[in-house]
Amino acid sequence: MKYLKIIGQKKLSGDVKISGAKNAALPLLASTILAKNSVTIGNLPNVVDINTLLKLLEMLGSSYSKTDNNTIEINTSKIHETKATYDIVKTMRASILVLGPLLTRFGHCEVSLPGGCAIGQRPVDLHLKALEQMGAVIEIKGGYIHATAPNGLQGATIVFDKITVTGSENIIMAAALANGTTKIINAAKEPEVVQLCEVLKAAGLHIKGIGTNELEIVGTKQELLEFKNFDIIPDRIEAGTYLCAAAIANTRLNITHIIPMHLDAVLSKLEEMGFSILKDETSVTLLPAHTIKSVKIVTTEYPGFPTDMQAQFMALATQANGVSIIDEKLFENRYMHVNELLRMGADITLQGHTATITGTPNALTGTDVMATDLRASSALVLAALVASGETNIHRIYHLDRGYENLEEKLMAIGAVVKRVDE
Ligand code: EPZ
Repeated sequence: MKYLKIIGQKKLSGDVKISGAKNAALPLLASTILAKNSVTIGNLPNVVDINTLLKLLEMLGSSYSKTDNNTIEINTSKIHETKATYDIVKTMRASILVLGPLLTRFGHCEVSLPGGCAIGQRPVDLHLKALEQMGAVIEIKGGYIHATAPNGLQGATIVFDKITVTGSENIIMAAALANGTTKIINAAKEPEVVQLCEVLKAAGLHIKGIGTNELEIVGTKQELLEFKNFDIIPDRIEAGTYLCAAAIANTRLNITHIIPMHLDAVLSKLEEMGFSILKDETSVTLLPAHTIKSVKIVTTEYPGFPTDMQAQFMALATQANGVSIIDEKLFENRYMHVNELLRMGADITLQGHTATITGTPNALTGTDVMATDLRASSALVLAALVASGETNIHRIYHLDRGYENLEEKLMAIGAVVKRVDE
């Protein structure tokens, strides 16, 4: 096992180039199950979760080649398996994204129940209910979802009780090859969902309402789609994380290869905290604050403040003057980073899903801490950048799931970071 050793309080400056979005790449890789041709995908982040899904697609019978670290050509025409086994699904719950495409293309599939994870129970009941409304017969047996639709899925009107990102993505893909038209009401409209819709539209799918909470998809009656090649959109959460690195160190940093409008909620919160933001069409520069002000944050679906940025802003709030409040509305247990921040000297109290952070600028001290989930780990990295002395972050496999070349990007802007054997 490896851990990350970070020496705090180094001056940070320079540029960070953002990678492709993991949460766009995962549904898009799954969507190639709907393709009749080989598809070349660019700006693919070289992170563990992407390689896990590629391994699953290969186990099902797909083949792919990496033309470079961030470009692959994938062909799923030879898929002969429709079972996503526990050993791979347990390592990444987003494997559930093969359920919709496999079922709509083959009329049957078995996908291991993903189980919960550190941030919550994370059920998939809304995915399954929607598929049943489209005519699927779903049986949960032996920890697996057994799904059949012998005559293909039927178009239906789906109203999601809660906005679910991968639930929306699964049903968009299921509807693509269904018989008839599917309406999805209360669909997620995150940029990652939008790109999935755009790629499917470019492949010839008739889809209306892209970017809204209401989608209408005319299924092709099991006719596979002719995909165009595409590049993955930039990762707005990675970009937000590095903007928080600039903010917590209260220094100027330039973040490039991004779509600034995907970060509007994050940028407005940074401005509320006293930072200035310069932006052009593909980059954002954060300028230091005279004093870092406290902030109130409520996480919600896009375009509101993203839950995936909550932990990072909690670390930042430890440097603010005054008391900040964070209300985590999406997940029931997304405060695993609090205990570790407390060990570094932060002053945080929890009341249900509300965290109160009393700023203690420049008071964090380095120590041994443990990563628990992807975004909690990034909060610990941010805290370590401003803590006095040395911080060792253990279980950094969590970080490797979603942050490409983390050490290299941090060292390039002046941080002192080293990956060490336990
Ligand atoms: C996606 O997860 C992201 N993952 C998550 O990012 C992100 O935190 C989340 O959306 C919210 O934005 C990917 O895109 C691969 P949800 P997802 O379904 O789709 C409840 C990261 O750090 N729910 O939108 O699994 C659920 O429990 C990851 O990159 C049901 O009750 O999240 C949660 O409370 C972490 N039943 C809420 O809805 C269901 O069937 C939102 O979950 C599905 C969801």
